[in-house]
Amino acid sequence: MKILLTGGAGYIGSHTALQLLECGYEVVVADNLCNSSYESIRRVQEHTGKPIAFYEIDVADGEAMDALFKAEPIDAVFHFAGLKAVGESVQKPLEYYRNNLSTTITLLDRMYANGVRYIVYSSSATVYDAANVSPRLEDMSLGCTNPYGWTKFMGERIIQDFVTANPEMSAVLLRYFNPIGAHESGCIGEDPAGIPNNLMPYISQVAIGKLEKLHVFGNDYDTRDGTGVRDYLHVVDLAIGHIKALEFALKHTGTEVFNLGTGCGYSVLEIVDAFENTNGVKIPYVIDGRRAGDIDEYYADPSRANEVLGWKAERTLSDMCRDTWTWLQKNPNGFRE
Ligand code: NAD
Ligand code: UFG
Repeated sequence: MKILLTGGAGYIGSHTALQLLECGYEVVVADNLCNSSYESIRRVQEHTGKPIAFYEIDVADGEAMDALFKAEPIDAVFHFAGLKAVGESVQKPLEYYRNNLSTTITLLDRMYANGVRYIVYSSSATVYDAANVSPRLEDMSLGCTNPYGWTKFMGERIIQDFVTANPEMSAVLLRYFNPIGAHESGCIGEDPAGIPNNLMPYISQVAIGKLEKLHVFGNDYDTRDGTGVRDYLHVVDLAIGHIKALEFALKHTGTEVFNLGTGCGYSVLEIVDAFENTNGVKIPYVIDGRRAGDIDEYYADPSRANEVLGWKAERTLSDMCRDTWTWLQKNPNGFRE
């Protein structure tokens, strides 16, 4: 069975490509490399000893997508392609709406025209209304605070409406909580451009001495130790969740939505502690003011994915810290030489 991964050269896409190949699927990737490099694809092929058909194209380019669907008999699509930096989306809203929505619309249109009926979509916990209590359940109210979040919210809506209009289609919307970690081999991992925005990539840069100290954004939240609490899950567990979602999609029609998270929240200081204890590295930090737009805590109720998909996050916080460190030690400059 041949699976198309849009955005498959990126962080989550490359880990999913590796798992798919190891499970015997064939993989095709469409990525314009605007936030990634071909090196991740090369490494996945090297690690698995299996080929990936790679198309360096913009998923919003209908003609290029048509040519891909004509050249490759695709059975199902994992739609990872998108821009994902919350702060940048506030500065460049049109870029985010244009890219994230036009990729989704063009993809659905060209998939359907070429007879492809199954799609698994990368949504986010950010689509939940911040006023909800945790754990977050799939049927809780939705609402976003930034353009990036709205593109994920609208992406879900567009897919749902398209599937309603074409009931032979099957869509699974996956709301990821906070993916971190790397493949245990250290051959692929997260490689953000510039100074990282997210916690684990920032800790990583401090750990290898490229940044002096972590800035903890606020210690006056209503949480165990005053710092923000999130549901961190291992990127390999997330990748496996996509394969479970695909198996489900192949047997159903309509749209279904699932949280992918562990169901456990950890604070910023607990993550720092876990990284230090697992890897024996010191992470100096200072307490700064709150980051605009942050909320105190959120974590998933993953029961629906546990029960319906038969998926459960297996890897521990210590595994996430260890695998991040292995990736960093082997690749202090990420995918760059
Ligand atoms: P990433 O930036 O590493 O990967 C996204 C990939 O999409 C990149 O390789 C990029 O080059 C590609 N891309 C972007 N626009 C494209 C276009 N128009 N045409 C072709 N390729 C394009 O990000 P990631 O962390 O792997 O995230 C994958 C998906 O999961 C994204 O849709 C993101 O919004 C979503 N998501 C990520 C997180 C997270 O914390 N990483 C959380 C929730 C949801
Ligand atoms: N944090 C710091 N210092 C940093 C970075 C983060 O203290 O340098 C804190 C934040 O204040 C927050 C926690 O660490 O309390 C996690 O922050 P991240 O930026 O790593 O993650 P977020 O939960 O803010 O958001 C991420 C993605 C969103 C996505 C969301 C849910 O950036 O796009 O996870 O998947 F929607």
